[in-house]
Amino acid sequence: MVDGIQRQYASRIESMTSFKVVDFLEAAVKMEAQGRDIVRMEAGEPAFPTAPAIIEAASAALRDEKTFYTPSLGIIELREAIAAFYGTRYGLQIPPHRIVVTTGSSAALGLICDLIINPGDGLQLTDPGYPCNANFVRRAGGEPQLIPVDAYNAYQLTPQAVAEHWRDNTVGVLVASPSNPTGEMLSRDNQRGINAVVASHNGVMIMDELYHGLVYDQCESSILEINNDAMVINSFSKYFGMTGWRLGWMVVPEDALEAVNIMAQNFYISPPSIAQYAALGAFEPATIDLMEARRAEFRQRRDYLVPALRELGFSIPHTPAGAFYIYAGIEKLSADSEAFCWDMLERAGVAFTPGTDFGEHLARQHVRFSYTQPLHRLELAVERLSKALAE
Ligand SMILES: Cc1ncc(COP(=O)(O)O)c(C=O)c1O
Repeated sequence: MVDGIQRQYASRIESMTSFKVVDFLEAAVKMEAQGRDIVRMEAGEPAFPTAPAIIEAASAALRDEKTFYTPSLGIIELREAIAAFYGTRYGLQIPPHRIVVTTGSSAALGLICDLIINPGDGLQLTDPGYPCNANFVRRAGGEPQLIPVDAYNAYQLTPQAVAEHWRDNTVGVLVASPSNPTGEMLSRDNQRGINAVVASHNGVMIMDELYHGLVYDQCESSILEINNDAMVINSFSKYFGMTGWRLGWMVVPEDALEAVNIMAQNFYISPPSIAQYAALGAFEPATIDLMEARRAEFRQRRDYLVPALRELGFSIPHTPAGAFYIYAGIEKLSADSEAFCWDMLERAGVAFTPGTDFGEHLARQHVRFSYTQPLHRLELAVERLSKALAE
């Protein structure tokens, strides 16, 4: 309301869902400002500082005045560095020109949805899943086709589920592995099977590989090993811990490049220049060593937290394979995840996110814990939760 006038904004806004994690984040920040100590397990960002080689690369870029627009698809040095990373990590030869640098993978998700979705088209997504995906689909005029997934299938799609839910207007599938909010992975067999179902419908296979590098008991494989034409999104936010630098990338098939370039030119002009030069430091051996040490630390946190939460009555049918999330059932503790999360924030001083942020399927029975805080803070969270649950 401005000057007493109620403006009418575009109807697409009405169908967009809010990001509940931000409500909890804001409430936690407010309580901290009032002097309360809150263990912050709601947000999905590593609390580690930016790696020294990345800071150094950014400082050098500032000194060298690399502060101008760059090519819309990103600076070539970075596209080459990312392509080389696919060589060392996965043994894949991806030509650098197929790599598109974006303003966070969020921009990549938007570009891909705008590229493949006509008004009325459907895109298959998991429920639960990353909440913004459905809103990118809606922004493009499409219909999010949510497929319920459960613990029995490691909260992932199966080829059967994709085939059963494929409708006349479906144009593709977007899968995240490891997933947010569950940390669970899609097996290589299921990647292959889903890819075959999608190919049989001439659909588009989109894989969100954002949490690659944060996998603890197995080796992750890229969908590009199976399907060279799949669309892959990735980011410097999670494994490289660069959330605020707002830099991601995607790998697209040759025939998509021209359209993606036109959209990137128009919508963003270019990804942030300093962040791109900074990201060159992400591929320095010293940074990779540091990230691998952090990966080991995340694993240690997960291995502490999963049994500790089970002990408190949360149900975690199997240990999540990666990311830094635990998606826990609260059937024994509460009937309503939102009320439960607000109550635990207030009484225990521990912030975590209700399942209702990630979809509708069994969302009131689940919460997401993010283990981005150091181990001693997670221990404090468990101690506080234990006390509050016993009251
Ligand atoms: C599964 C998934 N995809 C995409 C994103 C977007 O991340 P960014 O824009 O920082 O790369 C996130 C952020 O949490 C995520 O969890």
